[in-house]
Amino acid sequence: MRFRDATTEDWPQIWRFLRRIVADGTTFTWEPDVDETEARARWMHRPPGRTIVAVDEHDRVVATSETHPNQRGPGAHVANAGFMVDPDHAGGGVGRRLAQYTLEQARADGYRAMQFNAVVETNTRAVELWRSLGFEILTTVPEAFHHPEKGYVGLHLMHRRL
Ligand SMILES: CC(C)(COP(=O)(O)OP(=O)(O)OC[C@H]1O[C@@H](n2cnc3c(N)ncnc32)[C@H](O)[C@@H]1OP(=O)(O)O)[C@@H](O)C(=O)NCCC(=O)NCCS
Repeated sequence: MRFRDATTEDWPQIWRFLRRIVADGTTFTWEPDVDETEARARWMHRPPGRTIVAVDEHDRVVATSETHPNQRGPGAHVANAGFMVDPDHAGGGVGRRLAQYTLEQARADGYRAMQFNAVVETNTRAVELWRSLGFEILTTVPEAFHHPEKGYVGLHLMHRRL
């Protein structure tokens, strides 16, 4: 497994699994039927944002993350980030390693903290991963996410210093 900045050529591979994750409707506050142009604009960043891919030995993309300033100007030293592991590769440690790499990169980029604004409380795998990496739940916005099976559930605001 290698980690590197994404290039425009990586997008078709990212879109292949990003669309599946978003369509599932259980983890992201995105429209499940988001179109490719919009998804690409949201995920593929130019500086100061950054998009990272995890690739296998054949340079196939198995996971991706994106970081960008959570706010502008005097709030730009706190990063916001998103993570997606190809469901065919989930649960095998890719997410943890990608998150560690992304945290190191965010620190190197000069951010002082990372904040997640909307971690779905029923997304146990993500919540446990973020906690194990030192994130704490600052608050939970009640019933802020409409889960397709579980109905209205909370969104955690999670934070850690870098
Ligand atoms: C959440 C996500 C990034 C995690 O990546 P992953 O590669 O599947 O996770 P890993 O195999 O690295 O496991 C990381 C940790 O998650 C936790 N975890 C994994 N499976 C779990 C499960 N079934 N139940 C509870 N916790 C679990 C564990 O803490 C695990 O760490 P450990 O095995 O080292 O103890 C990935 O599943 C994903 O992209 N999900 C869909 C999109 C998403 O939810 N993104 C994050 C939004 S906040």
